[in-house]
Amino acid sequence: MKLIIDTDPGIDDAMAIAYAAAAPEIDLIGLTAVFGNTHVHQSSRNARFLVEKLGLNIPVAEGAPFARGETSHAPSEHVHGPEGFGDLTEIPEIGENHTLAAAEFLVEMARQHRGELVVCAVGPLTNIADAMRMDPEFANNLAKLVIMGGAVFCPGNVTPHAEANIYHDADAADEVFANPPTTLLVGLDVTLKTLYESADFEGLAEKSPNMGTFLRDISRFYLKFYKEVGGLEGCGLHDSTAVIACTHEPMFKIVETGLRVVTTGDELGATRPDPSRPAVRVCQDVDGAGVVRLFTERVTSLP
Ligand code: RIB
Ligand code: CA
Repeated sequence: MKLIIDTDPGIDDAMAIAYAAAAPEIDLIGLTAVFGNTHVHQSSRNARFLVEKLGLNIPVAEGAPFARGETSHAPSEHVHGPEGFGDLTEIPEIGENHTLAAAEFLVEMARQHRGELVVCAVGPLTNIADAMRMDPEFANNLAKLVIMGGAVFCPGNVTPHAEANIYHDADAADEVFANPPTTLLVGLDVTLKTLYESADFEGLAEKSPNMGTFLRDISRFYLKFYKEVGGLEGCGLHDSTAVIACTHEPMFKIVETGLRVVTTGDELGATRPDPSRPAVRVCQDVDGAGVVRLFTERVTSLP
């Protein structure tokens, strides 16, 4: 499966990109960077750092710096750290971004690999909505659009109503859900059933000295947030669960419903079922232990 991950790395993004690099079924052909956990120049820098560390030779195209109509962004530093990799502060600039902006890159790749390309969006949906506006055939050219985002049957994580990726650009998300021919939504409804604990990260470090140790080191900041703020003994494999859904749908219970996003007021970013909209496939449950096992099995195979 040819895959592009649209990402805001970001600690769980880094885990998902490592998983994709290790998964034998996945041919990761590029990354597109978006604001969200970090500023977009940090997202693209971190993505290029991961590409180098994983020994991949794939492009990174930089995308949207802000949500639709915004001129600034406050990254989730308290969750992912000042540079997006927890306590790590010195992250080198390696290589350069692709000459195309993210939305153009996505449109071109979808045309070039018509019917074969899966895009997995694990940050705000600004680049995806931009690609849909740029080419009305973009969504139809994709084999599948898998989105980490939303909280359809459970509370949000940024507010009681909204999950972070949707909250960060509610207008873009609402546009994407209005045009969903191939969309699969992987929200907090399932990603909070895949908690990864400190001992799991120690196991990664033990078996994967390079990548596993890096993920263990950057996860400490993330685990501290989950414990202090969420009262949880582990962090959600949010983005890795979405990448796993690209190839392992049978691990998920999937229902269909039209979706809309609340774009104003206290419930900004809420993802609400809406029967008047075209159906989106929504993950309602998951074999959480199976996802954790598959993630560990693949990532520990990395050097
Ligand atoms: O709500 C979790 C999502 O927001 C994940 O993609 C995480 O990386 C953040 O972007
Ligand atoms: Ca993310």
